[in-house]
Amino acid sequence: MRISIIGCGYVGLISGVCFAEMGNSVILVDVIRDKVDKINGGIAPIYEENLDRMLKKNIGHGRLHATTRLEKAVIDSDMTFIAVGTPSRRDGSIDMVYVKKAAEDIGKALKEKGAYHTVVVKSTVTPGTTEDVVLSMLEKFSGKEAGRDFGVAMNPEFLKESKAVADFMNPDRIVIGGIDEESIERVGRLYKDFKCPVMETNPRTAEMIKYASNAFLAAKISFSNELGNLCKKLGIDAYEVAAGMGYDGRIERKFLDSGIGYGGSCFPKDVKAIIAKGKKSGLKMEMMDAVEKVNKEQPLLVIEMLKKRIPNLKGKTIAVLGLAFKPGTDDIREACSLKIVGALLHKKAKIKAYDPQAAENFKRIYKNITYCMHAKEALEGADACLILTEWPEFKSLTDEDFNVMLGKVIIEGRKVLDPGKVKKFEGVCW
Ligand SMILES: NC(=O)c1ccc[n+]([C@@H]2O[C@H](COP(=O)([O-])OP(=O)(O)OC[C@H]3O[C@@H](n4cnc5c(N)ncnc54)[C@H](O)[C@@H]3O)[C@@H](O)[C@H]2O)c1
Repeated sequence: MRISIIGCGYVGLISGVCFAEMGNSVILVDVIRDKVDKINGGIAPIYEENLDRMLKKNIGHGRLHATTRLEKAVIDSDMTFIAVGTPSRRDGSIDMVYVKKAAEDIGKALKEKGAYHTVVVKSTVTPGTTEDVVLSMLEKFSGKEAGRDFGVAMNPEFLKESKAVADFMNPDRIVIGGIDEESIERVGRLYKDFKCPVMETNPRTAEMIKYASNAFLAAKISFSNELGNLCKKLGIDAYEVAAGMGYDGRIERKFLDSGIGYGGSCFPKDVKAIIAKGKKSGLKMEMMDAVEKVNKEQPLLVIEMLKKRIPNLKGKTIAVLGLAFKPGTDDIREACSLKIVGALLHKKAKIKAYDPQAAENFKRIYKNITYCMHAKEALEGADACLILTEWPEFKSLTDEDFNVMLGKVIIEGRKVLDPGKVKKFEGVCW
């Protein structure tokens, strides 16, 4: 199939590379020239396992290229995915500016196109958006009729950053919400070789499935964090509790790891968006409000713990290990590290930071902290160390590595250190 994808971010790029890998001909579109040039040069603008190799291979085979020319990309393809960002507005609702612009431009391109075309929303959008906003803009700017001249579908993406390629190629489920049978059938053909369940529904149910999934996972994390805080107070190992709970098939062990809270480009924004949508619909959304409140407060617990050991942080050197919102990615969007480093700087502490992938992105926000090439360099001469991302390499740190510190305060925000290798440290919930 000939596919165009609007937006070369995490979702657009991964989808494009994977669709090309599956044998489709893919045109990626972005407004950022530099991103387009990098992709055409076989360089992924983001870090993801296997992405560089697959990108180079599919560009080499002529199955994939990137462009800034949206209209030509739509005309030269049979199906267009919208994969642009949907960031939060001040009130928590999603900012539709990129989706609207993409829908307008696709509509204008469809005006010039004779053949039937399918437009698929892959961006995470609140229930009703595909039909009420995207479909109506496509009709307005194309002068054509949805369901007759072109198809419209919503196909949410469930990939996890850090395992994005593997998740895309081997998903738990595919959800296709279409305005009619034809739209669903066309999108379904793309995934025909996948072994997972394929759920066919209407667009607003597809949109809600995405939000419900992310909100539920975020709730599991906030639940675990609140319970983890209590376990710590009561001298109970929260991870043993999680293991015991996880044997129950109705609960499942995943996402019960307590720590400093969730971050990333999806959970915080999606929880806010579903709260805003609920409130706009006249509901209180008390549970989701609580999920967000717990998550807001959780990262700052490490600062409280640190202040108990070092009451005056002014001029103290803090080694921060891990900046990415989770291991396996260079993404720092809404990472807990941002809040924690901000709070430390506010208290006039000096920061020596190390992350295997995310330092370049972090530098764009915090220029004036010291970035180190490895963990030991960050630890050297530090008064305290905070571990904020569970990168596997931190598992091998030993007492010998921490001996280069001036002080002996080690606080984990994520459970990663091996108690067999490091004798004295404290965890946020353990
Ligand atoms: N990142 C994830 O893990 C993930 C997972 C599932 C779903 N999602 C959802 O997918 C959507 C995209 O997320 P992302 O993380 O890939 O976003 P992103 O910010 O990384 O990328 C969006 C890209 O779209 C481009 N863009 C914006 N307007 C454009 C236009 N009019 N024409 C062409 N390009 C345009 C931007 O330049 C940017 O490169 C969001 O709705 C997000 O919630 C993200």
